[in-house]
Amino acid sequence: KRIGLLFGGRSAEHEVSKLSAANVLRALDPGRYDIVLIGIGRDGRWLLCDSGNGGGRGAQALEIPEQAPQVALLPGGGGEMIVMNGNASPDPLRLDAVVPVLHGPNGEDGTVQGFLELANVPFVGSGVLGSAASMDKDVAKRLLRDSGLPVVPFLTLTARSRADYRAAADALGTRDLFIKPANMGSSVGVSRATSAEEFETACERAFRYDGKVLVERSVTGAREIECSVLEDASGRVCASPLGEIVPAGSHGFYSYDAKYIDADGALLRIPAELPSDQAGQIQELAVETFRVLGCEGLARVDFFVDPKQEGSLFINEVNTLPGFTAISMYPKLWEAGGLPQSELMEILIGHAIA
Ligand code: DAL
Ligand code: MG
Repeated sequence: KRIGLLFGGRSAEHEVSKLSAANVLRALDPGRYDIVLIGIGRDGRWLLCDSGNGGGRGAQALEIPEQAPQVALLPGGGGEMIVMNGNASPDPLRLDAVVPVLHGPNGEDGTVQGFLELANVPFVGSGVLGSAASMDKDVAKRLLRDSGLPVVPFLTLTARSRADYRAAADALGTRDLFIKPANMGSSVGVSRATSAEEFETACERAFRYDGKVLVERSVTGAREIECSVLEDASGRVCASPLGEIVPAGSHGFYSYDAKYIDADGALLRIPAELPSDQAGQIQELAVETFRVLGCEGLARVDFFVDPKQEGSLFINEVNTLPGFTAISMYPKLWEAGGLPQSELMEILIGHAIA
């Protein structure tokens, strides 16, 4: 099978995607798959970084060379891709499936998924709706809340409906708030505010990334628990063992720097230490969340567990293309569940082409 690995992208998580893709490439068996690396530049162009042997194996991050030839996937082409190499007769290359290793807007949000649907090529992960509904934290939380699932109380701000610190604090019943762009990942643009001044700065930062911003009640001292969900070719949906993010050093929360910049920024504790009935409840909630949001193939569902209030549990967010770096929670949790990364990739590709 010829597999197209899509990475990079027009997103603030472009660099994270290059790390994830290098790791996914390592997990794909070159004896089984003919791997074509397609890098999406920051300008949105699709560039053929390597065709046929998956060069770049062993690299920590995949690169997108500026001068690489541009490629175009044909609508209705069943995976047929034209390499624009400047020749009069472009070379077609047919992909059997695509693995989008893209995070954030223009990749994880349904846009690329719609493009792949139109190209009529199977791809790993959620379709247009599941991707879009999960990416937008405002929409995701409304759908989950409407299904009776527990989410942290929130307000949604837009350019037309702003709130000041006082109004937000009164509405949410606390002066300790988190401010986030609605459509973003890796904690880009996220900050905490406990004063009017911090709130203004936080909103300004979040609005830089999105026209819609969420203000949430901070679940102070909450534990961050994550669960990987996987759907196989027969449609069976499974939850992995749970992991816990333990922020370390000076990082107050699991910020972008704590995730990728500072090697000691956070610790993953796998499996998370939780009473087994609570762990089971979280795994069930993860599968339910996956179904409510219309996810397919894979997702990582993130939770807050408040240790002060017994049994107090919230779904924080869902990532339909979760981080896949060598130290990322999604593949690590499956490894802990007895599923090596190469087998995980086979299940994901099997689901895509089923
Ligand atoms: N958005 C990042 C990649 C994650 O959730 O892992
Ligand atoms: Mg995320």
